[in-house]
Amino acid sequence: MINIVVLPGDGIGPEVTAEAVACLRQLSTERDLGLRFTEHDFGGVAIDKHGHPLPEATLEACRNADAVLLGAVGGDKWNDAAVRPEAGLLRIREELGLFANLRPAKVLEGMQDISPLRPDISRDADILVVRELIGGIYFGERTRGDHSASDLCTYSRDEIERIAHVAFRAATHRRQKVTSVDKANVLATSKLWRETVTEVAKSYPGIELEHMYVDACAMAVMTHPRRFDVILTENLFGDILSDELSVIGGSIGLLGSASVGSGGPGLFEPIHGSAPQIAGLNVANPAGAIASAVMMLDELGLSDSGRLLSSALDVTLLEGCRTGDLGGSATCTEFGARVRENLRSGLTRVDAYRE
Ligand code: NAD
Ligand code: IPM
Ligand code: MN
Repeated sequence: MINIVVLPGDGIGPEVTAEAVACLRQLSTERDLGLRFTEHDFGGVAIDKHGHPLPEATLEACRNADAVLLGAVGGDKWNDAAVRPEAGLLRIREELGLFANLRPAKVLEGMQDISPLRPDISRDADILVVRELIGGIYFGERTRGDHSASDLCTYSRDEIERIAHVAFRAATHRRQKVTSVDKANVLATSKLWRETVTEVAKSYPGIELEHMYVDACAMAVMTHPRRFDVILTENLFGDILSDELSVIGGSIGLLGSASVGSGGPGLFEPIHGSAPQIAGLNVANPAGAIASAVMMLDELGLSDSGRLLSSALDVTLLEGCRTGDLGGSATCTEFGARVRENLRSGLTRVDAYRE
């Protein structure tokens, strides 16, 4: 039995997560995977019910799980809460020791039409952001007075080393290149970052390492996305750059992510937020949540099933079933149902959609 904790969260979180779980349930039945799902309160809904975004029972369930599948959290309603939903998200990542957040972004061949970038620019873009997730300015001391406020950004050599190893190992299975992104022309943490990453690189002689300032990188990912393979960066820069990278593929609704640490359960979530403006309308794109489920299957050692789900997702997009964010008219539930139909009917048809 594989025990998966599902945290639907707020806004469109429950809608997109329901589609991902339905895909996983179908796969589990068809392939006898033994996946078992239990849902728990997390985020704003947990504040409403229990007074805290991450109730102790939810955290305990996550600790005992094989994997955690998360939707999204947050919304104006809880902006003034003593502990905001977003703080609950930071806390769960920290409690589970999930220091590495992997966010792949690419343009599906045959789908360049939905990228706002020119096809000659977006073609073959395939980038993995390796974002440090439980350090830096998100976790430093904060102060707030009437006339001033501060957020402390700290990184230790150890924290940088362990995330750098994740990036270099990932590059080994990809196109052998790491771009480390920092602001070493200004920030002390970035200077330490650059120095440490350069040291770690010595253990990976086959991998090309380049350093880039974050401002220049923010431009280059749009003008020359193909020159990037793995982008290794700190928490805040990774947050911003990964949303930017979603533009290449056409929508933030497409991107999934995996957060992993040193051996405990991983956490799998789309990179988008709770999108309150479209919540409850059944128009959200569940592709990012389904892509996160694919990453979860891989991490659980069920890569064959992951490949099937990934192909079914690609075929669904390639055959033109698209939600509003991609210019289509499919609803969230229609899109999910179509993925499951493709999953049922054999899945090696992706090539049929390639030019
Ligand atoms: P957002 O990602 O929710 O939305 C940004 C834009 O993308 C909006 O126009 C939205 O409609 C659209 N969008 C996002 N996901 C989509 C999807 N699956 N399908 C179609 N369109 C989609 O970011 P935001 O508006 O800055 O934040 C909203 C709330 O979500 C805030 O409370 C924020 O703190 C929270 N948030 C949570 C997470 C998370 O839980 N991991 C991530 C980011 C933001
Ligand atoms: C994300 C989100 C979160 C982050 C927020 C909601 C705390 O933007 O998962 O990308 O910054 O990590
Ligand atoms: Mn973000």
